[in-house]
Amino acid sequence: MIVSSALRRILPTLVTVAAMLVAAPTNAAPEDDRGAMVRMFQSRFPGVPLDDYVYGGLMFNAAARRHYEDIMAFPPFEPDLDRGKALWETPFRNGRTYADCLPDGGRMIAGRYPTYDAQAKRLVTFEMLLNDCRSNNGEAAYRFDDRDTMGVLTAYARSLSDGMRMDIRVDSPEALARYESGKALFHRRIGQMNFSCANCHVTNAGKIMRMETVSPALGQATHFPVFRGGDSLYTLHARYTRCMQQVRAQPFAMGSDAFNDLEYFHSYLSNGLPLKASVYRR
Ligand code: HEC
Repeated sequence: MIVSSALRRILPTLVTVAAMLVAAPTNAAPEDDRGAMVRMFQSRFPGVPLDDYVYGGLMFNAAARRHYEDIMAFPPFEPDLDRGKALWETPFRNGRTYADCLPDGGRMIAGRYPTYDAQAKRLVTFEMLLNDCRSNNGEAAYRFDDRDTMGVLTAYARSLSDGMRMDIRVDSPEALARYESGKALFHRRIGQMNFSCANCHVTNAGKIMRMETVSPALGQATHFPVFRGGDSLYTLHARYTRCMQQVRAQPFAMGSDAFNDLEYFHSYLSNGLPLKASVYRR
């Protein structure tokens, strides 16, 4: 076999890289991505504790943060949480409940989702898990874009995991493929404005845009749904939709594979950060 000298020079490297790809735990690449992002933000915003990234744009502004704490002491969206709790507690027609159906009764689990289900060969979000409970108990699934059902249900159900730390796993080649697809979406320039998620939430994080401080991607996935203006419920996919509309891109459907992949990558970035669902945003 004739091997060019250039190829001969890089061949040992190629072999080593191939061996690493086979041997390395699948989490390795995502862990590198997350570590790089944490280091980048920490050098750009020195002194901000990592846990403060869950406050999004509020982490840059002490007065806005106090205003947030005041609102959170008596949240105007309490009625929505009550409606979500009522849905959560109402038994299915067969008498079973979400708590019977979900792992650990649905407590301290939201931070593990999305997760890749190797048996079913699909990525499962927390909202899909809730819908699985419904389907498996003979009830119709909720629409992922329906604020009055899935919206308020997830606002309450996710709050049962408040304080848990995000713990997303990417532990198979199939899972990694979904993660990589989400990562590609995050970096792809879209819409008439030709912006990627990263252009705003990495490069321009901390800057003011449309009178709002742009939040860093790190920490964003920890606190959904949010109540914008105190009463307008946005699930994570609804927020993705809003951002895509802002750059005049055609949004993906809520609950679509594309948004699920994006959520997988996006949530992985927040690994280790504390969850707190249902918070106020401007
Ligand atoms: C043109 C800039 C821009 C682009 C592009 C953009 N966003 Fe946003 N995004 C914003 C602004 C402004 C806000 C409101 C202020 C904030 O909380 O960051 C926001 C808010 C968010 C929030 C809510 C943060 C919170 O704590 O409430 C999430 C999550 C988010 N964006 C994700 C994304 C994702 C994912 C993409 C890519 C599909 C994206 N954004 C694209 C500007 C952008």
